[in-house]
Amino acid sequence: MCGIVGYIGNKNAAPVLIRALKKLEYRGYDSAGIAVYTGEDILVKKAKGALKNLAERITGEIIPYKPADKEFDACELSLFDKTGDFVKGTLGIGHTRWATHGEPSDTNSHPHSSTDGTISIVHNGIIENYAELKAKLQAEGYVFQSQTDTEVAAQLIAKAYKEEKDIFKAVLKVLHLIEGSYALGVVCKDYPDRIICARKESPLIIGLGKGENFIASDVPAILEHTRDVYYLGEKEVAVLYTDHVDMFNFEGEKVIKEAKHVEWDMDAAEKGGYPHFMIKEIHEQPKGLTDTMRPRIVKDNSGKASDVYFEENKMDEAWKNAKRVVITACGTAYHSGVVAKYAFEKIARMKVDVDVASEFRYRNPILDKDDIFIVVSQSGETADTLSALRLAKQNGLKVVAITNVVGSTVSREADDVIYTLAGPEIAVASTKAYTTQVLCMYLLAIKAGKLRGTLSDEDASKLLSELETIPAKVQEILDGKDVIQKFASTQFNKDKIFYIGRQFDSATSLESALKLKEVSYMHSEAFAAGELKHGPIALIDDKTLVVAIASEPSLYDKIGSNMVEVKARGATVLVITQDSGDAFKGKADEIFRIPECSSTLASLLTVIPAQLFAYYCSILKGIDPDKPKNLAKSVTVE
Ligand code: AGP
Ligand code: GLU
Repeated sequence: MCGIVGYIGNKNAAPVLIRALKKLEYRGYDSAGIAVYTGEDILVKKAKGALKNLAERITGEIIPYKPADKEFDACELSLFDKTGDFVKGTLGIGHTRWATHGEPSDTNSHPHSSTDGTISIVHNGIIENYAELKAKLQAEGYVFQSQTDTEVAAQLIAKAYKEEKDIFKAVLKVLHLIEGSYALGVVCKDYPDRIICARKESPLIIGLGKGENFIASDVPAILEHTRDVYYLGEKEVAVLYTDHVDMFNFEGEKVIKEAKHVEWDMDAAEKGGYPHFMIKEIHEQPKGLTDTMRPRIVKDNSGKASDVYFEENKMDEAWKNAKRVVITACGTAYHSGVVAKYAFEKIARMKVDVDVASEFRYRNPILDKDDIFIVVSQSGETADTLSALRLAKQNGLKVVAITNVVGSTVSREADDVIYTLAGPEIAVASTKAYTTQVLCMYLLAIKAGKLRGTLSDEDASKLLSELETIPAKVQEILDGKDVIQKFASTQFNKDKIFYIGRQFDSATSLESALKLKEVSYMHSEAFAAGELKHGPIALIDDKTLVVAIASEPSLYDKIGSNMVEVKARGATVLVITQDSGDAFKGKADEIFRIPECSSTLASLLTVIPAQLFAYYCSILKGIDPDKPKNLAKSVTVE
C-alpha cells in the first residue's frame, strides 16, 4: 500500500503534489518523491523517510524539530509550499511509499523513470511477474537502478512507446504484460498535456477541478481542491488533460461514467469513510491476505496451486535439516506463533516451541544450531522481540523474520525475511497484521512439509487451493457483521468474557481475548476448553459471557460439553463455528456461523468475528478503539 497523486492544471504542481501526499502519509511513509514536467524534461526529486525530508531536499531548508503540534504542521506546510519556488511545472505525479520490493531508500523511492528519462511512473501495488519481465529486459540490455518491481513497468512502457510511437497505446500494451495489483500514474515528456493512469485491484480516483484535474489513491488528497470525483473502475485506464478526462477499459474502448460528489469531511476521508482505522483495517483483511499469498503460491502448468515460493527465502537447506522450529514474539504476533505451533505440527510434522520474547530471553533457553528461529513482529521494532532475535543469532541460529515493515530493524538483522503485505496498520490493536502473519505461518508450514517430504504434493496442493478461497470467506464474514454488532449490544455490559477453544481454536481464543481487553477494557481471558473444569469454571456466573470457538468437527462433542457446563452455571454462550447442522443446538444462546473450511485453516476465519465483537464493544462503551489507553503501537522499550 502506498499513496499516489497526480496533478495537471495551471498551478505549480510541486506544492500541490506534496500537500496532497501529506494527506496520504497514512498509506505509507518510508519515502516520498515527485516528478514534474519542467518544460523540457521530467525532473524527479525523491527522498527516504517522511515527506518533510523531500521538501527539505527540494528547498534546501531544514525544519527545526518541534513536537508534532499545529505549529509544527503549519511550519511543515509552508516548507511544502516553498517547493514550488524550486521545481516549476504544472504537470506532475507524486508518491509516498510503503515498500514491498526493495528496502526504503532514495533509489527505491518512486517515481521511477525509464533509463532514457522519457517516462516516469508512480505505482501502488505489486507487479507479481516483475522478476521474469526484468530478466527479459536485462537480456535486451536494459539497466536497472532500483530493486523495485515498479521500475520494470517504467522500462516496459518506454520500450513499448518506442515500438508503438504512441504513449496511450504503449501503456495499454504494458497493462497486458504486467500481472498483479496496481494503480499507476504515468507521465511522458513527449506528452506534457496529459497524465495517464490505470488501476487493477488497487484504488485510484480522479478529482475534477476547474482547468485542473487530479489523480489520487484516496479522497483526502484532493479534498482541498475538489469534491467531484470519478472512481476509476477495475481494469480501467484514464487520460487526464487540464480540461477533460477520457476513460477506457483495458481493451482501449471508451468508458463513460458519472462523477460523484464526496460528502465526507477530512477525518472520515482519511479512514476511507469508516469511523475508525480499526474497522477499516478489519475490512482490509481480504485484500491483505490476497496480497500476501498471491505472489507466493506457485501454479503448475494446469493452473493448479502446487508449491510455495518465497522470493526472499534463502534457507531451503536449513528447513530440510531443522530438528525444531522456535518461535518468539509479543502480544498478537505471539498468538500467530501459537497458531503456527499447531500448523507446523499438523502440516509439516515439525516440533515447535513458541515463547513470548520477554520470557524467552531471560531463561537461558536451550538452542541448537539446527533449530529454525522465527520472530514475528508487525512493526519490526519491538524491543523484546529484537533482543530474542539477537540472542538466537549469538547462539548461531538462522533467523527468519515475519514482519510488516520493509527495512525495519528486525528485517535487517534476520537472515531471512517474509513480509506480510498487509499495508500500514495504524490502529493500535492489530488485526490485518495478525491474519497475514498467520497466513505466512501456514505458507511456511506447507513449504517446510514439502521440503522435508512430510506433506504430499497432493495434500500441499489441496491446502494451497483452499488458502486461495480464504479471502472471499473472510469477506463473507464481514458482510454478516450486523449479527455480531447486534450481539455486542446485548453483551457489552458483561463483567467477564471467556474465550474457550481446543487445538487451533485455543490459539484463536488467546488473540480474541486480547483484542477485547485492548479496545473495550472488558475483563476477558482465554482458556483451553478442557482446562475450564480444572479451575476457571469457579468464576462462571450469570454476568459471564463464554465464547466457544469450534472449528474442528471431531471435537464438537467435547467443546459442546464445556458449553453445557458453563451454561448450567448461568453464563451466556456464543459459539463461533462452521457447523451447519445442530451440533450446538440448545448448548449456545447464539450461534455465529463461519463459511465452511478445513479445521487446519479455520484460524484465518474464526478470529474475524472476535475482532468485530471487540470493535463493537469498544464503540458501545464510548472508547476510541484506535487509541486505547495505556497502549502504544510499537513497544520499543523492554
Ligand atoms: C496488538 O493488538 C497489540 N497492540 C500488541 O500486542 C502487539 O501485537 C505487540 O506489541 C507486538 O508488536 P509487534 O508485532 O509490532 O512486534
Ligand atoms: N511495489 C512497490 C514498491 O515496493 C509499490 C509498493 C506500494 O504500493 O506500497 O515500491
